[in-house]
Formats: sequence, C-alpha cells, structure tokens
Amino acid sequence: MKTIIEPFRIKSVEPIYFTTKQEREAILKNAYYNPFYIHARDVLIDLLTDSGTNAMSSHQWAGIMEGDESYAGSESFFHFENTIKDITGMPIVIPTHQGRASEKILFSIIGGKGKYIVSNTLFDTTRANIEFSGAEGVDLLCEEGKLPEVPAPFKGNMNVEALKKFIKEKGAANIPLCVITVTNNSGGGQPVSMQNIKEVKKVCTENNIPLFIDACRFAENCYFIKLREKGYENKPVFDIARELFSYADGCTMSAKKDAIANIGGFLAMHSKELADQCRNLLIITEGFPTYGGLAGRDLEAIAIGLNEVMDEHYLRYRIRSIEYITEKLVAAGVPVMQPAGGHAVYIDAKLFLPHIPVDQYPGQALTGALYVEGGIRGVEIGSLMFGKYDQDKKLIPAQMELVRLAIPRRVYTQSHIDYVTEVIIEVFNKRDEIKGLEIVEEPPMLRHFTAKLKIAGDHMN
Ligand code: F0G
Repeated sequence: MKTIIEPFRIKSVEPIYFTTKQEREAILKNAYYNPFYIHARDVLIDLLTDSGTNAMSSHQWAGIMEGDESYAGSESFFHFENTIKDITGMPIVIPTHQGRASEKILFSIIGGKGKYIVSNTLFDTTRANIEFSGAEGVDLLCEEGKLPEVPAPFKGNMNVEALKKFIKEKGAANIPLCVITVTNNSGGGQPVSMQNIKEVKKVCTENNIPLFIDACRFAENCYFIKLREKGYENKPVFDIARELFSYADGCTMSAKKDAIANIGGFLAMHSKELADQCRNLLIITEGFPTYGGLAGRDLEAIAIGLNEVMDEHYLRYRIRSIEYITEKLVAAGVPVMQPAGGHAVYIDAKLFLPHIPVDQYPGQALTGALYVEGGIRGVEIGSLMFGKYDQDKKLIPAQMELVRLAIPRRVYTQSHIDYVTEVIIEVFNKRDEIKGLEIVEEPPMLRHFTAKLKIAGDHMN
C-alpha cells in the first residue's frame, strides 16, 4: 500500500518559532507548570487542542468573503441551517458562539437540583454546565473504555446495563437527558458504535428520556463506524451521519472541531417547545436566532466545513495520521491508549511515570517534560482536570491519568508528526528524571485551565 498523503496542498504558511531547552525551562516555570499559561509563540508544535485550531480551506476563506452580515435572516444563516438540517435531519437549528454556549443554554433549561444527566463520558465543559445548573453528571462508560492499553473497536460505548440500573435506581423522572459524546473525547477520542447508540436510544425511549448527541467529532466517529462496524463498510459517511443523528432528539456541537472552523457551535433538535425556550435564552446571551453570537462569515465557513469534513479522502488521512503516531509510540514501548482515537494520541501517564503518585499529577508533569524537551504543548486529562477532594481535602483521583496530544485538522505535516514522536520517545527514555507537581493555587471549577503548580517539595521563589 502506498503512503496515505495529506489530501491538500499548502497555499499559505504560518511560521513557527524555535526556542532553546533552557528558555523553555524558564518559560514553563513562569507558566506555573500549566501549559495554558504558555504564550503560543513559545510553542513549536501546539497539540493543546484540536478545537478552533483547524486550517480552513480556500473554499472556506472564499466563504468568509461571501458572508452575509445582516442582523436578521442572513443568507449565510440559511446556508448554515440547511447544511445542518441535511446532516442531522433535525428541523430546528440554533447557532451559538461555541459548544459550551449550547450546553449552557440547554442545561439552564433542563438541568437543576436533584436531576441527573447520564452519558458515556461528559466533556469537562458539559459536566461543568450541568453542575452549574445544580444537576449531577453521571458517566456510564463501557468497561473496555476504562482500560487504556486494551484495544477494542468501540471503546466510547455507553454501558447499557449500567444505564438501565441507574434509571431504576434514580427514577426516569429525575433524568431529563442522556448525552452520548461522539467520539468520546475525555475517554480517549474513542468511537461509539451505531449498535450502541440504537440500544441506548431504546432504553431512553422506554423511559421517556430524550437522547442528545454531543456531536463535536461526529464525522470522525462515523468514519470509524464505516471502518469497524459490519454493514457500514460501503455506506457514504454522510449516510452514516444521517443514521446516527436519526436516533437522537437533539444535539449540541462545537463547530471548532468537525466543522473545521475556528469558532462556532449550534444546538439542533426536534422539539419546538424546547427550542422556543432555548431561543429565549439565546437572545439574552448569544444574539438573535439567525446569528447566535457568530458573524455571518463564521456561519458560512462552518456550513462549508461541515461538508468538507465528510470527504473520505480527508477522513482517511485524518484517522491514519493519529494511528501513525500511536503505532510509532507503541513500537517504542510508550504506554498509549489503544487503539488510536480520532483526534488525539493519549499517553498513559500513570504507566509512563510510575514513580509519580497520582496526587503529584503525573499527567501534568509529563506535559511539562514534553514542552521542555521539544516545545510540544499537550494537555493533561487526569486528576488535575477531573480530580475532586473529599471532606479532608484529600484528592479523589480521576479514573485515568492521560496526556492528550490533539492534532489540529489539516495543520501539521508528516515531518512535524515524526518530530513529535521522536520527542516523546526521548522523554520516555529519561522518564526517571521527571518530577511530580503540587498545586499552589486553584479555582473552584475547571481548575486545569488556571491552576498554578510547582515541583513537589520545591520552595517557591
Ligand atoms: N464537547 C466536547 C466533546 C468537546 O471536546 C468540547 C471542547 C466541547 C463539548 C465544548 O466545546 O470548546 O466549543 O465550547 N473541547 C475542546 C478540547 C476544548 O480541547 O477538547 P467548545
């Protein structure tokens, strides 16, 4: 088989800037060992997120010029609306400025004290919006999803038996929504099978619980279905997406991922009653319902990107590029989540750094080491992001200690990726030198964004 190549050529380039290892050591310390505080200019390869970091196509840039900036009823809105109706089959589309704005609106309406939102795994902003409403978010991930190194085709699946049990325990009336995240970002970018979505839908229908899809990475998930699920191998990704959305009552989406745009999001749904409530909130928070916090040009870029993302040459290259890094790391003995996810490589920091206890945040320590060694910025998805405290302020650790290296869409070439794997392997070979961290300052919610840390046991100067 021939090399799977990037299915585009480059028309415009953006320089990246080099720093020395010594400089990076100082930068990291000044950033309190938190990559969110590092200036992007000081990062060589930025794998912090695949969100909003996409390279738009020449068609999307042309769409930016075509954007209709009318306050109400702009042409770009109808292009956006029709595209989303087409893919999701949902008749109501509400634009928002990004995914979490959709979540905030949705959970302000359906959340509240005493309620539970069940999911395969909620992303952190989704969980935070649920908790902010007073409700509780509950992850019911399948067992194989919890074992990073054990490969399985659909590790993002929801545990259907656990769902039934939970409903019985808490009562369907207290569960206003079930959310399936595709792909399952916090669980390793792993896909959910069509079969699983169908089964979850059946349980939800029996109990009168609406099902929403967190659709950020729907195209990547649908391509995995095509590759791995029987009966879908010859179906176009568009048809697979149509089917996937057909089981849902609604969806939230961050267009910063699989719409290959730099900003944007939406809510789509069937219920007119819920949509009316959403629009009322939208108007006081985001904007008029035909732009919802976005410029007309953004709506245009999203509409075009949503079609480009389902191109199978693109998806083949996309999924392969993540698999390529994973294969190289596995061959070098680096513990990574398997199989490769759709948008990111997840390193198992617990196994990578067995000498660092979870309360010294091995994932965060590893992100620091990757930055110092090669100017690569990743993000911890472990106890800094998801850890809680018990009554004695003792850390209740997250299920896994992962470091995510998310690959922006259409941004880096194969040699960038080769460089990344070389750096990781180099760090792996001297992993014993890496030290644990402790928190010096943290906010009450979403602490990983702004927490300040230091080397464990070190005095602050
Ligand atoms: N849901 C999922 C599954 C996500 O991955 C994200 C964002 C959101 C919702 C929220 O969307 O950022 O547009 O408000 N994930 C980014 C990431 C931030 O890095 O994974 P948003």
